[in-house]
Amino acid sequence: MRAVRFQKFGGPEVLEIVEVERPEPDAGQVRLRVAASAFSAADDGMRAGFLPIPVQLPHVPGYDVSGVVDAVGDGVEGLPVGTAVIGFLPMEADGGAAEYVIAPADAVVPAPTTIPLADAAALPSVALTAWQALVDDGGLRSGQRVLIVGAGGVVGKYAIALAKRAGAQVIATASPRSADAVRAAGADRIIDRTTTEVLDAVDEQVDVLLNLAPIDPAEFAGLVTLVRDGGAVVSTTAWMTTPDDAERGVRAATVFVLPNRERLAELVSLVDQGALRVEVTRRITLDELPALHAEAAAGRIPGKVVVLPA
Ligand SMILES: NC(=O)c1ccc[n+]([C@@H]2O[C@H](COP(=O)([O-])OP(=O)(O)OC[C@H]3O[C@@H](n4cnc5c(N)ncnc54)[C@H](OP(=O)(O)O)[C@@H]3O)[C@@H](O)[C@H]2O)c1
Repeated sequence: MRAVRFQKFGGPEVLEIVEVERPEPDAGQVRLRVAASAFSAADDGMRAGFLPIPVQLPHVPGYDVSGVVDAVGDGVEGLPVGTAVIGFLPMEADGGAAEYVIAPADAVVPAPTTIPLADAAALPSVALTAWQALVDDGGLRSGQRVLIVGAGGVVGKYAIALAKRAGAQVIATASPRSADAVRAAGADRIIDRTTTEVLDAVDEQVDVLLNLAPIDPAEFAGLVTLVRDGGAVVSTTAWMTTPDDAERGVRAATVFVLPNRERLAELVSLVDQGALRVEVTRRITLDELPALHAEAAAGRIPGKVVVLPA
């Protein structure tokens, strides 16, 4: 089968397009004929060797994946050959930038039926990140207020939709390029971060502050005053410390997204109900993935890109 992989850590040039043996599923695993994998910023960091993830070499990137079950290992039940699934695969193991990938059976769930299977690869880890940040780390509940900084990105729009669904009021920062999408996702109030100081614009404290943007750490620390006593500051930008205010009981949490099969199944159901919108900005082929990594190494790639095997 064809795959993109790297044998050593380094720049985008370490990626090679190779012909390798089609893998066989062990007990508890399934093999997927890949419909698509999704590119994540973490793929760039993992290839470069920057992230504290024990990546196994040689490594095929693309831990978010969609595909059709094509072989089943011993002991796997409920995932017959032909089932369309999506999954957030273990990040250290081979991903889906290939024609086939092995997945632990407990990492995949039936795919949404209302969107193309390839596009569904864009959902798993980012939507799980939003949910984990708001619910597990933020403890967000119905009737509360959340301020989402960087709401116009991929995680942000899922976070808005999930927070609204939880019954919270959402204040979101966005630049003009993202404002319409943030509004469509359900934000109650949008602060244009390019013209307005967030500190001045929020006049009533929030229960949860969720940061998704590469803001200045000093600016981040300043925003903690917007959180009520006993509230939470949550961030997905794990390279900087999430600030707290212990004196006021404001706690800090940094998100490291974890797989969660039940929750992923629930996210799929929200997609099929029309409550969550899966956005794909570009569809590329395996041959174009090295160039995409080069683009990512040079700057942010907006939106979600899915990688088709052919
Ligand atoms: N820790 C984890 O487990 C985990 C998991 C997933 C993602 N992440 C990280 O979480 C972050 C968000 O992910 P994403 O995929 O949503 O990224 P994204 O699509 O790049 O979105 C980030 C948003 O931040 C906004 N932004 C950029 N500079 C800003 C600034 N100075 N002030 C305020 N907003 C600013 C941009 O908003 P505008 O469009 O309005 O300009 C952009 O849309 C990324 O850093 C990603 O690497 C972490």
